[in-house]
Amino acid sequence: MEKVNRLLNNEEYREMLSCIQEAEKERIFCRHDMRHFLDMARLLHIYCLEEGIKADKPLIYAIGLLHDIGRAAQYKTGEEHHTASARAAEKLMPDCGFDEEQTKTAVNAILSHRSGSEDKFFKLVYKADKKSRLCFECKARGECNWPKEKMNLEIEI
Ligand SMILES: [Fe+2]
Repeated sequence: MEKVNRLLNNEEYREMLSCIQEAEKERIFCRHDMRHFLDMARLLHIYCLEEGIKADKPLIYAIGLLHDIGRAAQYKTGEEHHTASARAAEKLMPDCGFDEEQTKTAVNAILSHRSGSEDKFFKLVYKADKKSRLCFECKARGECNWPKEKMNLEIEI
């Protein structure tokens, strides 16, 4: 099985995913589910193509699948999810066949996905994460703690 699907079917990954699903059952804000993970990966792929950044598709999809998976730890212990997600990437990616360089890039992309970075690729990771959210039609927007500059308030073509 190729790397991304090994990750998708990894037992530990599935467990974290179910834990998030359970914790977010009643959540009124954006959920951290497979739809978001794939929307983020697909946008990131498009942005890379548009910006002429050589797109390593398995790496892009690994970042999509993993960047918020640390929400599982966050709901259990209160740890911030980007550090927990980075730790999960560091452990699971080599088990799924990703090499050291891909793992390192994913870990750093995940660590900066909430705050942004000067790096061109990491900037796109940040943007894809925010643009994959439909803030412009979210009923809970008024109660959301995201600052306005993070919100996706218009369709960008
Ligand atoms: Fe996200």
